[in-house]
Amino acid sequence: MSLLVERKRDSAFEEIQHTKEWLRSYQRVRAATEALCAPLCKEDYVVQSMADVSPPKWHIAHVSWFFEAFLLTPFHASYCPLDSAYDFLFNSYYETHGTPFPRPHRGLISRPTVDDVYRYRAHIDNAMVELLSNPPAEHVNDILHRVELGLNHEQQHQELLAMDIKHILSQNPLFPVYRSDLSPASDQQAEPLRWHDFAADVRYIGREVHADGFAFDNETPRHRQFVEAFQLSSRPVTNAEFLAFMQAGGYEHPDYWLSDGWQTVKQAGWKAPLYWVKRDDGWYHMTLGGLVPVDWQAPVSHVSFYEADAFACWAGARLPTEAEWEVAAREANSEGNFIEQDYLRPVAGGVSEDAPGQMFGDVWEWTGSAYRPYPGFKPLPGSLGEYNGKFMSGQMVLRGGCCATPQAHIRATYRNFFPPHARWAFSGFRLAKDV
Ligand SMILES: [Fe+2]
Repeated sequence: MSLLVERKRDSAFEEIQHTKEWLRSYQRVRAATEALCAPLCKEDYVVQSMADVSPPKWHIAHVSWFFEAFLLTPFHASYCPLDSAYDFLFNSYYETHGTPFPRPHRGLISRPTVDDVYRYRAHIDNAMVELLSNPPAEHVNDILHRVELGLNHEQQHQELLAMDIKHILSQNPLFPVYRSDLSPASDQQAEPLRWHDFAADVRYIGREVHADGFAFDNETPRHRQFVEAFQLSSRPVTNAEFLAFMQAGGYEHPDYWLSDGWQTVKQAGWKAPLYWVKRDDGWYHMTLGGLVPVDWQAPVSHVSFYEADAFACWAGARLPTEAEWEVAAREANSEGNFIEQDYLRPVAGGVSEDAPGQMFGDVWEWTGSAYRPYPGFKPLPGSLGEYNGKFMSGQMVLRGGCCATPQAHIRATYRNFFPPHARWAFSGFRLAKDV
């Protein structure tokens, strides 16, 4: 046997092993989505509490559609759709794939039923097992890249599911409990706020296009930015600190607010973070474990960019840029309160000495940076190019993941984005200062 044939055989064996690993990852991520939905009752699955929220039924169908549209249809030679109408119903926003069903109307789709959608999920899973068990050799690389993207997409929807379930349940004045067996919050105190100094320097920001490990296209390419000297706070702003802003008239003084923010405060009647409820004996917070007293030591969450920016103005500071955040995050501990910790709410962090703490997990941190492409950014080719690039207007970048993010899903270069008024995400912030 020639060396060349032997090498080819070795690499084919490695490919099979590699494909088997991806099949296990696929099954693990898909099972995590179903575990997240297990506490729901059928009635919970169909509610759309606002246009930004999708019914859980839609989420679990849409993440399956992603595998159908971008893997099974192009690469599984004998794939047969369960229902061809699903390609329209569960397409989120891929205009080059087909006309998507309007987002604000997702809650009006009572058929297919929840059971139908789980049958669809099983149909996709069976076909994906077939595809990954015997992938066409000429497309193995494309298939594995798309499986990786599809699994990261599904993890994003796991976090969206937690956010959306919370918003759906919060519409009910009885404050229903999603799960009563979540990890109990500790009585840990937040550390006193300290400032960490970072010198002015040319910094490398973002990811190499072909770096090892997964990254979304919007994190690339790695590029240089000159970052002036700055200070970053040692932890996110806490509920106690945000209460001080409220008690100082933060929501009543227009001088702290951006114009759009002030208009929103007046129109929406904001007086506190989303999910805070005032009772005779104090402030409560609607959580996925039900209505509980606000944990004053925990990072404030469910605030908009406008509220974060107004607080920073009141406190004589500012929000960090995303480049500043990333510079600090590269030195920070990547452990944190993620979905695996099973709190599903932010909790007070531990003490950090040498670098800012709680950079990862707990709350997505608003930055002062608009969500725009990095120099040299190129979206993925084809319809998948619609994944991130077309949303680069009118949104602000958030960093670090939250208590509903799978730990393996987050990294220092990860760029999340929401419109500045949005507050149904687990969104908080930390402060920065010029030196
Ligand atoms: Fe999606």
